[in-house]
Amino acid sequence: MKITVIGVGYVGLVTGACLAEIGHRVTCLNRDKKKSANLQMGKVHIYEPGLDQLVKKNIKAKRLSFTTDYPKAVKDSGAIFIAVGTPSRPDGQANLDYVFQAAEAVSKSIYDYKVIVDKSTVPVGTGKKVKKIIQKHYTGHFDIVSCPEFLREGSAIRDFLKPDRIVIGSESKKATAVMREIFRPIKTRKLITNIESAELIKYASNAFLATKISFINEISNICDIVGADVKEVAYGMGLDKRIGSSFLRAGVGYGGSCFPKDVSALNQMADHSGYKFRLLKAVIEVNNNQRKVVINKAKKMLGSLKNKKVTVLGLAFKDNTDDIRESASIDIINLLQKYGALVTAYDPVASVKAKKRLQRVKIAKTAYNACLGAELTIIATEWPEFKTLKWLKIKGLMKSALVIDGRNLLDQNKMRKYGFRYSGIGR
Ligand SMILES: NC(=O)c1ccc[n+]([C@@H]2O[C@H](COP(=O)([O-])OP(=O)(O)OC[C@H]3O[C@@H](n4cnc5c(N)ncnc54)[C@H](O)[C@@H]3O)[C@@H](O)[C@H]2O)c1
Repeated sequence: MKITVIGVGYVGLVTGACLAEIGHRVTCLNRDKKKSANLQMGKVHIYEPGLDQLVKKNIKAKRLSFTTDYPKAVKDSGAIFIAVGTPSRPDGQANLDYVFQAAEAVSKSIYDYKVIVDKSTVPVGTGKKVKKIIQKHYTGHFDIVSCPEFLREGSAIRDFLKPDRIVIGSESKKATAVMREIFRPIKTRKLITNIESAELIKYASNAFLATKISFINEISNICDIVGADVKEVAYGMGLDKRIGSSFLRAGVGYGGSCFPKDVSALNQMADHSGYKFRLLKAVIEVNNNQRKVVINKAKKMLGSLKNKKVTVLGLAFKDNTDDIRESASIDIINLLQKYGALVTAYDPVASVKAKKRLQRVKIAKTAYNACLGAELTIIATEWPEFKTLKWLKIKGLMKSALVIDGRNLLDQNKMRKYGFRYSGIGR
């Protein structure tokens, strides 16, 4: 089938490349001519493992192309996926401007039946609003479908091609058939719901995962007081199939382009519908506090942070991505600087993006360089590389052997044997 994907960010580009990989002819639309031209040459502007190769492979096979021309992109297309950003407004609501702009541009470019698929994460009721926008300029037959995306950056291609489920919010048999045909090569459960349920499934899923993270972080804070080890506690809990082990890793709190904004948007959605979502408000509060847990540990180790050389390892919001949106690491750096610390940072791939966001932070080229002369090293992102560093060598480079492991990544016994004063989260 011929498919259009609007947006070439983490979701749009992965969606486009993966739909091409399963046999469709995909045109990806974006507003930036230079980006489009670069993508057409196989130059990918984001870091996502395997994405470069997948894009190049499908361009070569003539299944994937890039343009900024709406009429050209949507012509002959059976389905149009909207995969543009839905960032937070200052009050926490989802900003739907890009979704509505894309819908309006589509409405002016279509002349026959299309399935318009909302892949962006959007509040309940957005599907209906998009429908109205399209109807302003296009009076023909079309259908709206909500098909939220559940991929994780860092494993996005696998997540897209081997998902736990595909949610299709559709109120038309014709559109449902089109969606089933698109995803036929992907063998997984296809869940058909109404549009509102599909929209809410996405928010509810992210909010639930965020709740698990905040829950285990609260447990970790108790562990710190009573002398339990949160890793052992989480392992013991996770063995219970009703609980499961995923998302029970204590740390510096969740971040990234999705959880913080989606949790806030659901909270706002509940408020606006007259319902006080008390649990979610607590999840947000616990998460914000978790950054401060690291700072309090740093103060305990160093006394005042004024003019202390602190190294932060990791800038991305998680490993295997260059995405720094709502990264806990950036929050921690800002807090360290607020208390007068002199920060040096290192990240295997996110340094370039982070540099633009950070002031007065020295960015080192290697973890070893970053730790030279440091009085404290904080691990803020769970990059596997940090696990395999020669920590004994780092001890020799640092001014004082103090480590706060904000991701509980390292072997604490080994670190203490090496002579570090080591503090994890809840252990
Ligand atoms: N990143 C994730 O891990 C993830 C996972 C699941 C769902 N989501 C959701 O998917 C959506 C997209 O997220 P993302 O991370 O890919 O965002 P992103 O910021 O990486 O990309 C958004 C893209 O949309 C483009 N765009 C904006 N308006 C446009 C328009 N009118 N026409 C054409 N292009 C336009 C931007 O230029 C950019 O390429 C969001 O709603 C997000 O919540 C993201």
